[in-house]
Amino acid sequence: MIINSYSGIFYINENKPQLQVIKCKAAIAWEAGKPLCIEEVEVAPPKAHEVRVQIVATSLCHTDALTIDPKFEDAPLPVILGHESAGIVESVGPGVTNFKPGDKVIPLYAPQCKKCKFCLSPLTNICEKLSRDKNPATDQELMADKTSRFTCKGKSIYHFLGISGFSQYTVVSDTNLAKIDDDANLQRVCLLGCGFSTGYGAAINNAKVTPGSTCAVFGLGSVGLSAIMGCKIAGASRIIAIDINSGKFPKAKALGATDCLNPRDQNKPIQKVITELTGGGVDFSLDCVGGSEVMRAAFECTTIGGGTCTLIGVAAGDKGLTITTPELILGRTINSTFFGGWKSVDSIPKLVADYKNKKFDLDTLVTHTLPLDKINEAYDLMNQGKSIRTVLIL
Ligand SMILES: NC(=O)c1ccc[n+]([C@@H]2O[C@H](COP(=O)([O-])OP(=O)(O)OC[C@H]3O[C@@H](n4cnc5c(N)ncnc54)[C@H](O)[C@@H]3O)[C@@H](O)[C@H]2O)c1
Ligand SMILES: [Zn+2]
Ligand SMILES: [Zn+2]
Repeated sequence: MIINSYSGIFYINENKPQLQVIKCKAAIAWEAGKPLCIEEVEVAPPKAHEVRVQIVATSLCHTDALTIDPKFEDAPLPVILGHESAGIVESVGPGVTNFKPGDKVIPLYAPQCKKCKFCLSPLTNICEKLSRDKNPATDQELMADKTSRFTCKGKSIYHFLGISGFSQYTVVSDTNLAKIDDDANLQRVCLLGCGFSTGYGAAINNAKVTPGSTCAVFGLGSVGLSAIMGCKIAGASRIIAIDINSGKFPKAKALGATDCLNPRDQNKPIQKVITELTGGGVDFSLDCVGGSEVMRAAFECTTIGGGTCTLIGVAAGDKGLTITTPELILGRTINSTFFGGWKSVDSIPKLVADYKNKKFDLDTLVTHTLPLDKINEAYDLMNQGKSIRTVLIL
């Protein structure tokens, strides 16, 4: 028997690799509202149309906190979170033709099967593989055969968004994976797995920001700052950045914001301030926070006669937004985004190339780099508003 350098592959004979379970380190969320625990997990071999990936880097996104917020219902627990990842293919299951061991890849929570009626439509990046009934923030908690590839202490552990990037090895569907250039910097392009692509794409693909327009971006985390980059590249002439943490303003300005407003410094609602500042409201507003209050402010600060409000943020315990017909009759539009509107498998390799060609800046978004063992520190930094993105090295 030959054992090759990949820890999970045994060759019974030279041609037929028998894939084995891999034992590795992962951060597990056992309970809502509690710190994650670093544990040894067992990662089963990939089944048909699945790929086992060695995760190299995963950045922490707000959605990784939302899902274990006690106010959030229906979170699948225990779970291995993490969905902004980049890594290297370790092995492939039967029927996988697009990937081979050693390929650099970005796992995707937005599948692109390229066969369903949605994938065949140029109008949407939704894929039939997503559940119609579930919150997209909890979809894909199991593989297609409704089982998990993760076990810890004899217990089956849920996947998260089909990715589970807080594990040194994970298994993903071959429709949820993008092959990227061999020279891609995985500690940076992992950001393309969610926050950057969402904010940037929301401005370009969903809001469809136009040259010379006025924009308002609520929330200056990675998603909001990336939306600012999208507005700027689309040619917006005025970009108003709004956050309750004024410490976020220098980066917003560096990335293209022309005005920065803290709602807590104002003596009237922020939507009134913006409407007055712009002589009637902005052409485009992007809510990168979530929750009824910010959604309403983002909607009300758009101009009548053509203003567009794009909802991106998802808040735990959200009460939603109530809109009356007269509010829309005067010509405002509300839309939203899923993964920035990108057809994931096709678009991510192009975004990796755009980053390499310096079309946009991911480096400014990375404020901290930590080993996986310090993942709870990364959550603290995010919850205290001290980080934009912390990249965890696995
Ligand atoms: N639609 C999608 O596909 C999608 C994808 C990724 C993330 N998201 C959601 O986008 C949101 C942003 O993600 P992130 O990782 O940038 O989060 P983040 O926590 O890093 O940033 C949120 C920012 O909003 C600010 N904020 C909080 N309350 C505010 C208020 N009332 N007014 C103005 N600013 C306020 C915070 O100070 C912070 O700077 C989250 O809700 C996340 O779940 C949605
Ligand atoms: Zn599809
Ligand atoms: Zn995310």
